[in-house]
Amino acid sequence: MLLTTVSHISSTTNFTVVDTWRFWIIHLWVEGFFELFVTVLVAVTFYQLGVVRRTNVVRVIYMDAILFLAGGIIGTAHHWYWTGQANFTMALAAMFSALEVVPLTLLTLDAWDFIKLTGTKASSGTPKKIIPHKWAFYFLMAVGFWNFVGAGIFGFLINMPVVSYFEAGTILTLNHGHAALLGAFGMLAMALAVLGLRHVLTDEQWAVPEKFIKLSFWGLNVGLALMVITNLFPVGVLQIWDVLENGYWHARSLEFIGQDRIRLLEWASMPSHVTLIMLGVLPMVIASGLTYLKIRKA
Ligand code: HEM
Ligand SMILES: [Fe+2]
Repeated sequence: MLLTTVSHISSTTNFTVVDTWRFWIIHLWVEGFFELFVTVLVAVTFYQLGVVRRTNVVRVIYMDAILFLAGGIIGTAHHWYWTGQANFTMALAAMFSALEVVPLTLLTLDAWDFIKLTGTKASSGTPKKIIPHKWAFYFLMAVGFWNFVGAGIFGFLINMPVVSYFEAGTILTLNHGHAALLGAFGMLAMALAVLGLRHVLTDEQWAVPEKFIKLSFWGLNVGLALMVITNLFPVGVLQIWDVLENGYWHARSLEFIGQDRIRLLEWASMPSHVTLIMLGVLPMVIASGLTYLKIRKA
């Protein structure tokens, strides 16, 4: 029923109208509300873990609120390349959306500096500092890293109107979408889950689940990095090259997608998927199951 209604609306409404509202949902959700939500959550959690100062947290949250509410809304237009917007709108959008990743990046660098300054390794004479909730902290650092790489670098790469003209809707968009979405929001979900799992267990009970969490952390991060390196980024670059040489229509046709080298790169992404599922998702499920069994037993 819903599908019929949606297809009816999209087949009877002008593309410009559909695409405009589509990105009021996608963009304002992932780059408006959700980016702010992530930054506030990361800031508050870093503060609770004692790795950033209160003034920095408050500063970053205010800066974020201003950037998202002013910039994020204007930034929506970076998706409207094909909806007949004025040059000025496109230029403003490209500029403001590039600023979106600044607050969370500053926050992550600040937390990283703190850890480096206080030191997790014992130097001569100073007692070794134990980071509380170590793996939740690492997952939060991963949020900052992927937000910078996935949303910042890969987002910016496809952000300028002159690039959008050739790029919109190619694999470089997938490259950005995967790195930003799984990288920033997926890792955040993992951080909060690990925070909860660690919280309900004693130090002694934590010993075994921690091994799986550690594995999951590396599995998810390496898996995502491999996916980008072995498939999404190189195919994206080849595709945009094809747009320049043979035109957009050709780069999106079977003639391009069906080539042997593209097929080869598709197969090359197999290890990344196996790593993500077997070494990333599965250990996290096991750690959650173990935690549940341990608290039931207790
Ligand atoms: C964590 C934050 C972000 C997430 C989760 C995210 C996710 C996505 C997704 C899923 C798409 C594909 C939408 C579709 O075509 O249906 C997309 C497109 C796009 N994103 Fe992001 N994004 C983020 C931040 C950014 C930032 C900061 C920039 C600019 C620097 C940016 C620039 C773009 C552009 C230009 C497109 C359009 C590409 C096209 O139409 O082919 N994004 N993003
Ligand atoms: Fe966007």
